[in-house]
Amino acid sequence: MSRPIIIDTDPGQDDAVAILLALASPELELLGITTVAGNVPLPLTAANARKVCELAGRPDVKVFAGCARPMLRPLHTAESVHGRTGLDGPDLPDPTMPLQPQHAVDWLVDTLLAAEDGGVTLCPIGPLTNIALALIKDPAIAPKIREIVLMGGAAFEGGNTTPAAEFNIYVDPHAAHVVFTSGVPVTMVPLDCTHKALMPRAWIEELRALGTPVGRATAAMLSFYERYDQAKYGMHGGPLHDPCVIAYLLAPGLFGGKDCPVAIETASETTMGMTVVDWWGTTGHPPNARVLTDIDADGFFGLILERLSAL
Ligand code: BDR
Ligand code: CA
Repeated sequence: MSRPIIIDTDPGQDDAVAILLALASPELELLGITTVAGNVPLPLTAANARKVCELAGRPDVKVFAGCARPMLRPLHTAESVHGRTGLDGPDLPDPTMPLQPQHAVDWLVDTLLAAEDGGVTLCPIGPLTNIALALIKDPAIAPKIREIVLMGGAAFEGGNTTPAAEFNIYVDPHAAHVVFTSGVPVTMVPLDCTHKALMPRAWIEELRALGTPVGRATAAMLSFYERYDQAKYGMHGGPLHDPCVIAYLLAPGLFGGKDCPVAIETASETTMGMTVVDWWGTTGHPPNARVLTDIDADGFFGLILERLSAL
């Protein structure tokens, strides 16, 4: 039986690959996609999610627009990484599939309340605003969630948006605090893990060589996307953050980590959005998250290539 999931996202080229990977994987049942403001403002993320579904030949997927800004702080976007549209690189047509009329937070609440206990896995790969507001709007959804597997934060790696903070958590640290203190099982894929998943140039060329619309568009997206990290960090290839979440559901054996107490910094402007991971158990607090720090990068890139070749 396939595993029901919801992807909450702010596409983003790496978000797009995460969506494609989920759509290409029969082990997963994608109930819907909720979009949030993050890499670019909400109207663009809501359009980009639909562009990706149409690229995959799946205009039937339900896409809902959610929150237009973080809970308390002004929206901080990342056009410098993802381009003006958020999905720069390929020339994808404007979507013709409809955006669902319901607000993403309301749909999350309705869908989760209708599910059985532990029935749905949430996959947030953007700022956590929609997920936090759903948990606030109706706490009765918490037991319905099997697990929240999210891309965000850093343990030992330092930040990519400030010296202390990773983008998704920095943009809405208060929402992250709500999620990490919700009591729902959380698996966190931080930069420590994703910075070990650097895209080999030959792998991008293999995607292009698939010769399919998905292969060509994905290669174009990732060629655009990796230039930022290469220029900024001198990395050999750009890190492919968000697909790690979906890959973890498909092949958890590719990842390694540890259960830890994790707190979110919401007070100090210097370290705002830092994920304070108590790796050595110094606080004595019970763990509230599984923190993944290791990845078999060859296995990860092999999995994506194999799955996307079927789309
Ligand atoms: C995260 O920030 C976004 O730019 C990416 O899509 C990813 O979700 C990495 O810090
Ligand atoms: Ca993202």
